[in-house]
Amino acid sequence: MQNKISPSIWTMLKTQFSRLKYWNIFIFIKMSIWEIYYWLISRRSQIKYLFAIDDLNNEVKSEDETLFYSPAPFLFLRQSFNFIKKEIKGKIFIDAGCGAGRVLLHAMDYPFSKIYGVDMSKYLTDIAQDNVNKYRKCRKKQMPEVEVIQSDILKFKIPDEPLVLFLFDPFNDEITEKFIDKLVKENKKEIHVIYLSPHKKEMFKSKGFKTICSKANKYGRGFVVMNKK
Ligand SMILES: C[S@@+](CC[C@H](N)C(=O)[O-])C[C@H]1O[C@@H](n2cnc3c(N)ncnc32)[C@H](O)[C@@H]1O
Repeated sequence: MQNKISPSIWTMLKTQFSRLKYWNIFIFIKMSIWEIYYWLISRRSQIKYLFAIDDLNNEVKSEDETLFYSPAPFLFLRQSFNFIKKEIKGKIFIDAGCGAGRVLLHAMDYPFSKIYGVDMSKYLTDIAQDNVNKYRKCRKKQMPEVEVIQSDILKFKIPDEPLVLFLFDPFNDEITEKFIDKLVKENKKEIHVIYLSPHKKEMFKSKGFKTICSKANKYGRGFVVMNKK
C-alpha cells in the first residue's frame, strides 16, 4: 500500500467544513486556524498528520470493513491537554485507537514517562510509527519513549501506573464497556481520561469516573476530562 505524504488542502478543508454544522462560527474559525497551521507544518516536515477519512478510507476498509478513522481536531487536543498540564509529569499516556498518530505527536511535547499508541489497523500503526520517528528527528529535543502497538485494545495489557488515557470515541458500546472493565481491573492508580466526542461517557461514570471538565456541545461533540482516584 502506498502512503500519502501529505493531504491535499481540499481534503483538509472538506473535513473542516463537515464540522461547521456542529459548531458556532467562533469555534469553527478557531478550529480552522489550528487545522491550517498544522497542515502547513505537515507539508514542510513530511509528517503525515492525515486530516480526513478520505485519505484512508479505501486502505482501512480493505483491512476491516468496520474500522473508521478520523483524527482529533487540534483545537480540542490543545484545550484538553492544557486543562491537565499540571497533572502530566511522570505519568503514562495511552491513545486507545491511535490511528495515524496525530495525538501521539502532540503528547510527545509533554513530560509523560512513556507513551503508548494502540490501534488494530496495521496500515495506520505503520504510519503512526513513521510519524513518531520523523517528529522525534525534527524536534531535536528530549522526548518521552513512544511504543506504537498494533493490537485489538482488549488484548493490550494496561500498565498499573498513574495514567492519562485518550479516546476519540473509537469503540462501539460493547467494546467500550469491556475496555472500561479491563481498565479498572488492571489499573488501581489515578486515571485521567480525555474523551473526545464523549457519546459513551455514562459508561465511565457508572464505573466511578467523575467529570472534571466538560466542553461537549448538544451534539455530543467536543470533549470531557474525567478522573478516578
Ligand atoms: C476516531 S479514530 C481516532 C484516532 C486518534 N485517536 C485521533 O484522535 O487522532 C479511532 C481509531 O480506533 C481504532 N480502533 C477501532 N476499534 C479498535 C479496537 N478494538 N482496538 C484498537 N483500535 C481500534 C480505529 O482503527 C481508528 O484508527
